[in-house]
Amino acid sequence: MRLKFLFKPRQPQLATGGDVKLRYLGPVDANAFREHIHDLHFEDFRDRFNGRVSDEWLDRYIARSLNEAIVVGAFDDDHLVGVAELHTGGQIEPGEGESAFSVASDWRHKGVGTILIKALLRAASENDVATILVETGAQNHAMKALAQRFGARMSFAGDQSIGRIDVAHGLSLAARMPEKRSFPTPPGGGRGRPGSGNAEVRN
Ligand SMILES: CC(C)(COP(=O)(O)OP(=O)(O)OC[C@H]1O[C@@H](n2cnc3c(N)ncnc32)[C@H](O)[C@@H]1OP(=O)(O)O)[C@@H](O)C(=O)NCCC(=O)NCCS
Repeated sequence: MRLKFLFKPRQPQLATGGDVKLRYLGPVDANAFREHIHDLHFEDFRDRFNGRVSDEWLDRYIARSLNEAIVVGAFDDDHLVGVAELHTGGQIEPGEGESAFSVASDWRHKGVGTILIKALLRAASENDVATILVETGAQNHAMKALAQRFGARMSFAGDQSIGRIDVAHGLSLAARMPEKRSFPTPPGGGRGRPGSGNAEVRN
């Protein structure tokens, strides 16, 4: 198997001055990553992994991602609320990267996925990845809509949909998106920090 170690030249600089901050994850973040995945609601977990997976499989997956892929984490204080992954090498064509996203269930639809995909586009362009692939269930409207905001061309194979995002085009669309976005505090039942009000996050 061909391994390609990706270059992480600079920290993502998309979210500063607010509650949600981005940084690259490494092997030391395995526990936080596992906890984040386990905290996903059932439907979100299913959408992320296209079904159920065993704990052993998940541990191997997390270790491989943190060692071999570019993984961006979105944090509310020290709580990991979103993760984006960019995988290359192996069966993946040169110049392409396969992506995966997960946003904590209580933080969904608040713009976290958007700042993560912007960070992944920058990381891709810095690593000579020209096309990001987004593969998800055909029923996953949130992921399809998020990918399409960044110009994804969608195709369908059975119950799967595959989006291809041209990184240069995605970055130009990202540059035209509003500079600021507010992140309302997630509902009280969530693990987000209570009472932090509306925090503006630059993106
Ligand atoms: C897909 C996912 C990452 C999106 O993250 P998010 O933080 O909710 O995304 P955003 O808030 O940035 O939303 C961006 C756009 O996506 C679309 N979107 C997000 N949630 C949506 C929903 N529930 N229904 C329809 N469209 C949705 C909207 O167009 C939205 O733009 P808008 O807020 O201006 O309307 C998140 O829903 C998730 O983690 N789902 C479970 C795991 C998963 O499905 N992963 C994908 C397979 S790898």
